[in-house]
Amino acid sequence: MTEGPDAAVAALRAGQLVILPTETVYGLAADAGNADAVARIFEAKGRPRFNPLIAHIADVGAAGAIAVFDDAARKLATAFWPGPLTIVAPVRPGDRVCDLARAGLDSVAVRVPGHPLARALLRAFGGPVVAPSANRSGRPSPTTFADAVEETGASAAAALDGGPCSVGVESTVVSVLGGRVALLRPGAVTRDQIEALVGPLETSDHGHRSPGRLTTHYAPDAPVRIDALDGPRPGEILLGFGPGVGEARWSLSVSGDPREAAANLFRLLREADREHPAGIAVASVPMAGLGEAINDRLRRAAGFVG
Ligand code: TXA
Ligand code: MG
Repeated sequence: MTEGPDAAVAALRAGQLVILPTETVYGLAADAGNADAVARIFEAKGRPRFNPLIAHIADVGAAGAIAVFDDAARKLATAFWPGPLTIVAPVRPGDRVCDLARAGLDSVAVRVPGHPLARALLRAFGGPVVAPSANRSGRPSPTTFADAVEETGASAAAALDGGPCSVGVESTVVSVLGGRVALLRPGAVTRDQIEALVGPLETSDHGHRSPGRLTTHYAPDAPVRIDALDGPRPGEILLGFGPGVGEARWSLSVSGDPREAAANLFRLLREADREHPAGIAVASVPMAGLGEAINDRLRRAAGFVG
């Protein structure tokens, strides 16, 4: 495995996989137009083929070649790109993102990541790059270079070290289809920020489900217990939140800051897991702002699906 942007571009062109840092989580990237390379992503992750991938592009201008954006989609892209928002929109006929990457759907998920290394790679490559989180399917997403390499490095021909991911949870996914905007996956761009721009979100997703939301996710090996108001039980590690809750070493955020908690979440789940505890208990995190995304990931890590 080589490291560095030139090697990464060459690997993508050769149909190989690349470990890619983004501001949310590390991705396992391939040329979106190369079905063999995309197939290798599904194999490397053990990902079900019905679960489509996100096409990453260098800037807003590149979206038109892939997807059909209405006014709402354009507003969202202008406001939040580059950044942690993924927009699912009707696919542009004849676009470069292969069928397998879209899981055969007539919609496509698009995002312009904010991480400078990711943007440099996308610009140098010059086309859409699909990148799911670089974990094996079902496991917590990697938010450090070392965790990404541990998860799927063996399948990658090149890897870019972009340091720890600043956001720490995956992008917010919204669908903008048939004039309706629905939240498919909460993330760092919050429900309130989106509604301030395009009005109230659909309360139901009208069948525009994210296929990836139907499976167990983000799970460490140890069982996860959420809203642990009673503190840790024997053998458990407690991930605290807020002043005075549990040991500082295992706190999502001692000050009770949801941004810090999101950035620490997957790393601490992985670190706790390495100690082989009887379980991982997690203190309550309020739902406001980024709390919706944090609680979503925690519920799924604890085995609640849907
Ligand atoms: O932050 C992120 O989004 C990271 C970084 C690497 O960019 N990527 C990521 O990808 O989280 P992944 O594959 O782990 O999650 C993509 C989600 C899945 O839930 C998938 O089902 C959904 O997006 N998705 C992709 N295309 C879709 C489509 N056409 N319709 C509905 N959901 C879609
Ligand atoms: Mg994922």
